[in-house]
Amino acid sequence: MTITIIGSGRVGASVALNCALRELDDILLLDIVKGLPQGEALDINNQLSERGIDCKVSGSNNYEDMKGSDFVVVVAGVGRKPGMTRMDLLKTNADIIKDVSGKVKSYAADAISVMVTNPLDPLTYLLLKVTGAAKNRVMGMGGMLDLSRFKYFIHNATKVSNDSIQAMVISEHGENMLPLIRYSTLSGIPLNKFVTEQQVSEIFENTKGVAAQVIALKGATTHAPGNAVATMIESVIKNKRSIIPVSTLLEGEYGAENVCIGVPAIIGSQGVEKIIELPLDNFEQAMFSKGVDSVKEALSTLTL
Ligand code: LAC
Repeated sequence: MTITIIGSGRVGASVALNCALRELDDILLLDIVKGLPQGEALDINNQLSERGIDCKVSGSNNYEDMKGSDFVVVVAGVGRKPGMTRMDLLKTNADIIKDVSGKVKSYAADAISVMVTNPLDPLTYLLLKVTGAAKNRVMGMGGMLDLSRFKYFIHNATKVSNDSIQAMVISEHGENMLPLIRYSTLSGIPLNKFVTEQQVSEIFENTKGVAAQVIALKGATTHAPGNAVATMIESVIKNKRSIIPVSTLLEGEYGAENVCIGVPAIIGSQGVEKIIELPLDNFEQAMFSKGVDSVKEALSTLTL
């Protein structure tokens, strides 16, 4: 099996390292920049050898080399600058992703694809439509990353171990993301037994805003996104059937259709195996619908 990562910048390299350290599969790093994927591969291999890990990481500037890949992770495109929203990247990245999606269709049509490039939800839909892949074989990495941040801020507020925290984030990977406080627990005990209303809203806002904070400090988010992608691929490769929030095509679930947006799903060997519909209260449904409207508005500006 091979995991191809299209885009060997900071996030692509982080995806490669996180997948390799979990010994998921051989990895191919692709990029148009000469030397970049090859250099990242060589650097990672030098680390793996010391860890006694035998995954092979290679780098190439030739899309044809992804022929027959089992997984394709799409990270190509530009990242946002301080002060930008993810949706501000739509025009620039949609053109890039349309081209990349065509290459995925040509060389790895049977792969399970994971979209990372922003704006995540519209570009997940674009990848699905251009490749013509079955809907269960295309997912976007957004909610898993938001979830990791949500858990971080719950941990900070409660001082409870990270491994006791279960949390969920749905909707748009963007301005309308929806951390689900009601469905978050500490070892099955509802979160609101541990935090005040004030702390809940702080956790909510921090989860939504931390990516922009990291970008302002270091220029890009890299480690948490790389880990989130590896968690999704691991659930497929090991058929773990983990429940992970992923951007996937809705066909009536949550009252939405013909849109890709973050929802909880069982992720196994067939990719997105089952979407889990959670009963939402009025606030949650309104926020989710706002996210759907935002993604559909973005899609309406694209020629698919
Ligand atoms: C972030 C980017 C990957 O949230 O959207 O860090």
